[in-house]
Amino acid sequence: MFRKLALSTAVALGLATGGAYAAGEGGHVEDYDFSFEGPFGTYDQMQLQRGLQIYTEVCSACHGLRYVPFRTLADEGGPQFPEDQVRAYAAQNFEIYDDELEDFRPATPTDHFPANTSVGAPDLSLMAKARAGFHGPYGTGLSQLFNGMGGAEYIASVLTGYTGETKEEAGTTFYENHAFSTGWISMAPPLAGEDVEFADGHPNELHHEAQDIAAFLMWAAEPKMMARKHAGFVGVLFLTLLSVLLYLTNKRIWRPIKHKDA
Ligand code: HEC
Repeated sequence: MFRKLALSTAVALGLATGGAYAAGEGGHVEDYDFSFEGPFGTYDQMQLQRGLQIYTEVCSACHGLRYVPFRTLADEGGPQFPEDQVRAYAAQNFEIYDDELEDFRPATPTDHFPANTSVGAPDLSLMAKARAGFHGPYGTGLSQLFNGMGGAEYIASVLTGYTGETKEEAGTTFYENHAFSTGWISMAPPLAGEDVEFADGHPNELHHEAQDIAAFLMWAAEPKMMARKHAGFVGVLFLTLLSVLLYLTNKRIWRPIKHKDA
C-alpha cells in the first residue's frame, strides 16, 4: 500500500515539474555567487560603484529609484563615494522638479533619485527584495535560505536570460526570457555586454554587468544588510552565553536536592 502511494506521488510530482519545463515557461534562476551572501558577507564597494554606473547609463532611462536618497551613496558599507563626488554626480546626472521654484533644478544629495515609470517600467528601489531567487523544492523557500538572498540572482538572471525570440501581442513586443515568470517580458534586452566602460578597466561582458547592477540593486533595497547581520550575530552570541549561564545556574539551584543523600 505504502509503496503504491509513494510511487504514485513520485509520478505525480515528476509529471508536474516535467510539465512546467516542457511548456517552456520562465522562472529559471541562476545561482550566482555574490560577495554579500552568507552570514559574514559584505557588499563589494567597487562592484556597487560599477552597478551605479550601469544604472545611470542604461537603466535610469526607463526605471526610477525613488526610495533611494543620493546622500546614501556616501554611506559606509555602500558604494561609499566621497561626499563631493556624490554632490557632483547628483547635479550632473539628474534634474528634480522643485515645487517652490516651479521649475527643474539640478539634484542635490538630499534629493531622492527621480521616479520614472514613463514606459511602464517598475521602480527598481525595492525590486531585489520584491522578487525571490529560488524557492527550493516545492516552494519551501529553503534554497533562498541556504543559497543566498535570491533577489539579486533573479535580477542578474533576467538580464542574462533572453533567448533572442520575440513575439507581438496586442501591439506590444514581448521578449522570451528564461528567468521571467511567464517566460515573456516586455522589456527589450537592456544589456548586451560592453554597454559601459568602467574606469578601472573591469571586464564588461554581459554576465559581469548583470551581476554588478544586481548587486547595486540589492544594496538599494537593503542598504543596512551588514548592520542587520552584525546585530544578528551579536544576538546569537549573547543568547549562547545566556544559555550556558542558565544551565550552570540551574545545576547549582538543584544541587542540594539532587545530592541530598550524598
Ligand atoms: C527601454 C526601457 C527599459 C530599460 C532601458 C530598462 N528596462 Fe527594465 N523594464 C522595462 C519594462 C517596460 C519592464 C516591465 C516588463 C514586464 O513586466 O513585462 C521592465 C522590468 C524590469 C524588471 C522587473 C522584472 C519583473 O520581475 O517584474 C527588472 C528587474 C528590470 N526591468 C531591470 C532592469 C535593469 C537592471 C536595467 C538596466 C540594465 C533595465 N531594466 C533597463 C523597461 C526598461
